[in-house]
Formats: sequence, C-alpha cells, structure tokens
Amino acid sequence: MKHKITLLFIFTIISSLLVSCREVTDEPSIPVVFEPTPATTEMVMAGAAPIVEVIVVGDPASGSEWFLSQGCNACHSTGAEKLVGPGQQGVYARAAARAGYSSPEDYIESSIKYPGEYVVEGYSNLMPASWEETEKQEIADIIAYLKTLE
Ligand code: HEC
Repeated sequence: MKHKITLLFIFTIISSLLVSCREVTDEPSIPVVFEPTPATTEMVMAGAAPIVEVIVVGDPASGSEWFLSQGCNACHSTGAEKLVGPGQQGVYARAAARAGYSSPEDYIESSIKYPGEYVVEGYSNLMPASWEETEKQEIADIIAYLKTLE
C-alpha cells in the first residue's frame, strides 16, 4: 500500500511536470517587433522641424589671414595697385555696382568661387577656379576683410 502511494505520488509529479512543460511549449511566442512611427509630412509641416537659417558672422582678422594663406596677395594688392588682378581697395563698394548680383556679398562670393562668371573690364580671366568649395565661414571672413579695404 505504501508502495502504491509512492508510485502514485511520483506519477502525479511526472505528469504535472509534463503538463507544465506542454503549457510552456504550447504558449504561442509573441515576437517583439519595433516599429517606429514615421513622422508624416503633416507633422513636419505642423512645426516639428522648424527651418533655421544660420547666419555666419565674418571675422576680418581671419579673412586677412586667409587672403595671405591662399596666396590671393600674389595677384591682388590690398591698395589700388594693379597686379595680375585689380587692387582690392574699394572692392566692396564697387561690388555693389556690379550688374546681375543681388548684393556686394553675392558678387564677392561669386568672384571667388566662380572667377570666370564676371570678368572685370581691363583684366583677363586669369584667376584660378580653386575656391569653389570654400566654406561659408571663410567666405564671410574674406568679405568682412575686403570691406575694411576702403
Ligand atoms: C593668379 C592670380 C589670382 C589669384 C591667385 C587670385 N585672383 Fe582674384 N582675380 C584675378 C584676376 C585677373 C581678376 C580679374 C578678372 C576676373 O574678374 O576674374 C580677379 C578678380 C577678383 C575679384 C573681383 C575684383 C573686382 O574688382 O571686381 C575678387 C573679389 C577676387 N579676385 C578675390 C580674390 C581672392 C579672395 C583670392 C584668393 C582666395 C584671389 N582673388 C586670388 C586674379 C587672381
């Protein structure tokens, strides 16, 4: 009798284990899927991404250094003297009078990046097109510097 109880006890344990194992394996596994909600155009339009205009302030001292480090001075004096190119004295003031440009800044920037676009009367298109990739900051600095050459 004692034997039977022990067997029954063992049987109960084994079967309950089996049942619990079944329960675990039968449980459908729910995969965790990460789906970020994409921002819709409406959300962006609603002001989620404000348009920020970065204003770069030019530094004349850095512009002066850049003028020398780039060898601009090989062709341009900082006075009125003509070398290969026009002297840079008063360039900012005359830049305002150049037709086809929205501002003196626009003219000077184009003169540096795309020298062949506007060839100053009395000169040849001899300025190298080496500065097309010039950073905004360097352009702002050189403009600030040229502005001081009145
Ligand atoms: C190899 C000679 C040479 C070098 C180097 C050179 N330039 Fe020039 N540059 C010229 C010539 C020639 C002109 C006039 C013809 C023209 O408009 O492209 C000119 C025109 C300009 C003008 C327009 C001037 C005006 O009176 O309208 C600016 C501004 C200018 N250069 C800036 C620069 C700067 C800044 C550098 C250096 C990053 C530089 N240049 C390097 C030869 C040169």
